[in-house]
Amino acid sequence: MEQEKDQDYDSLMGTEFHETQDGGHENILRPKYMKNFLGQASLKENLSVFIQAARDRGDPLDHMFISGPPGLGKTTLASIIANEMHAEIKMTSAPALEKPKDLAGILTTIKENSVFFIDEIHRLRPVMEEMLYIAMEDFEIDWVIGQGPAARTIRIPIPQFTLIGATTKAGQVASPLYTRFGITSRISFYPQNELAEIIKRSSILLKTKIVDTAVDLLAGSARGTPRIANRLLKRLRDYAEVMGDGVINEEIVAIGLKRLGIDSHGLEEQDRNILRAIINFYGGGPVGAETLAISIGEAIESLEDFYEPYLIQRGYLKRTPRGRVATQKAYELLGISTGDISNENQRLLF
Ligand SMILES: Nc1ncnc2c1ncn2[C@@H]1O[C@H](COP(=O)(O)OP(=O)(O)O)[C@@H](O)[C@H]1O
Ligand SMILES: [Mg+2]
Repeated sequence: MEQEKDQDYDSLMGTEFHETQDGGHENILRPKYMKNFLGQASLKENLSVFIQAARDRGDPLDHMFISGPPGLGKTTLASIIANEMHAEIKMTSAPALEKPKDLAGILTTIKENSVFFIDEIHRLRPVMEEMLYIAMEDFEIDWVIGQGPAARTIRIPIPQFTLIGATTKAGQVASPLYTRFGITSRISFYPQNELAEIIKRSSILLKTKIVDTAVDLLAGSARGTPRIANRLLKRLRDYAEVMGDGVINEEIVAIGLKRLGIDSHGLEEQDRNILRAIINFYGGGPVGAETLAISIGEAIESLEDFYEPYLIQRGYLKRTPRGRVATQKAYELLGISTGDISNENQRLLF
């Protein structure tokens, strides 16, 4: 519990945005079945049809690819699919698969019709990708035995399984791998009303009272991300218990968000630092992602995977072939007029 709180706090502050490793402490807020996976209607409808059809035929579900920013429900969806298929799930992430034998070990021992989940699939090494191609298509793997001139390859049959690959970087997945997924999906940021539903469900599970107006306020400040909505809700529960009467009302949300450095647009201090750096140091851009990450003391991965997608979606930032550019909206947010940037700078940089 203690550990979970620390991790929540870190994530909130943007120093660490990955979830805790699955299989750790149980997350009571994580939905187990499709009916509790709120929002994302069209994704859910399609998936429910594919699941039912596969189940009726007694087949494993087709391999599925899920992309989208962190915290939107990729891992959750994978475990829901396994539950709905009444199948077992084995979870790993690409960086954990160091050698071909790590992957072969899993594929040869996996249960028939089970789900194999690989997180961060864009980080799979090429040798492993090639092994997966054959595994996904033919449910076999090629294995080299012996050495030198005596070496030969044998094909080993493996159980039928469903591969679910998740990534925050769909663009970095090799196309031969991508095209072998029968179902490809993208989870996008949740609109405010869907986040409100998620917050209400979580508050019931956490046994916390939150008034409707506070739900809406919180839903508008959670960067379209269920994980963040849940984390903020837990922190606001703390504020409500210590500073109020235990009920989360509008005032508690306002105070809590302010203390956590989150503004009414759902932006954190680091979001503003990013925009400020582009404008103040690089004349509004374009500036390369690596340079920008160094300027704000942030890892390139969290800049690209966590901060940028939301800033882009809200129209504060643009990705151009030459680098990142702050938009007019960013200047307005920070109260900087575009005239403050010297013409000389603009001429040099645009
Ligand atoms: N559609 C949803 N409905 C309800 N809760 C959700 C939904 N999507 C995500 N969550 C919550 O957000 C948390 C983070 O989701 P997760 O699947 O770990 O995200 P990802 O794998 O995409 O980073 C989950 O533990 C769950 O509590
Ligand atoms: Mg995940």
